[in-house]
Amino acid sequence: MDQTRARITRDGIRIYEDADFAGMAKAGRIAAEILDMVAPLVQPGTTTGALEDFIRAEIARHGVTSATMGYKGYQHASCISVNHVVCHGIPGPKVLADGDILNVDVTVIVDGWFGDNSRMYVAGTPSRKAERLIEVTHEALMRGIAAVRPGNTFGDIGHAIQSYVEAQRMSVVRDFCGHGLGRVFHAPPNVLHYGRAGSGPVLEEGMFFTIEPMVNLGRPETKVLADDWTAVTRDKSLSAQYEHSVGVTATGCEIFTLSPDGKFFRTWE
Ligand code: MF3
Ligand code: CO
Ligand code: CO
Repeated sequence: MDQTRARITRDGIRIYEDADFAGMAKAGRIAAEILDMVAPLVQPGTTTGALEDFIRAEIARHGVTSATMGYKGYQHASCISVNHVVCHGIPGPKVLADGDILNVDVTVIVDGWFGDNSRMYVAGTPSRKAERLIEVTHEALMRGIAAVRPGNTFGDIGHAIQSYVEAQRMSVVRDFCGHGLGRVFHAPPNVLHYGRAGSGPVLEEGMFFTIEPMVNLGRPETKVLADDWTAVTRDKSLSAQYEHSVGVTATGCEIFTLSPDGKFFRTWE
């Protein structure tokens, strides 16, 4: 009889099969390809709405589906979060200025599998402190990913991120977290980007989730604007975010949303 490990853990986390990794890898690759294509469009004078239009067209060209259009009433295929916007920025008429930094977050559904990823972009030339924030945020994500292996815990991921970010005198946003995903967009567990080593559920082979730390130059507190989506830093300090979707393997993890162009980190170069 075929061995299967499919089950739900006591923490409500679904354990996927070996064969499911291929579905996630395809969804993740398309999500990453779309973010690759966005890079040359991010220029001073461009609107965030123009980026959204391009992303919609790319999603259609790939013959896949946006996970965010219609999700809890959200009406767009991307979230575009500029400068002090932490996450869930709504694309629209905003014109990008030289030095603006922005996160573009795209989630697609491919054959029922969800690929969720985001990266930082810069219009023109970033300030040194903005560039440093982006570097630290990318490194924070990669340190979180390096903590993903069976036997480690979700707290180990959060601890790896928080201890690094705070040593750089920046702060980790507490109000938003990563999440399980797979054949659904948002599932248990909440993947916190802060925490104590050894705390939280134990990582097991076959778990699929995102890691998506938001890092602020100033204080960690956020507030949501009257549009009910846009989250900003309370102190108006700059914020950055990077997101990958990953799956736990026997020895570590597979990153589903790797950039085919190798342009995940410094998209503006
Ligand atoms: N892609 C986001 C995430 O990383 C979720 C966006 S939900 C939306 O989980 F409705 F704001 F699009
Ligand atoms: Co996500
Ligand atoms: Co996302």
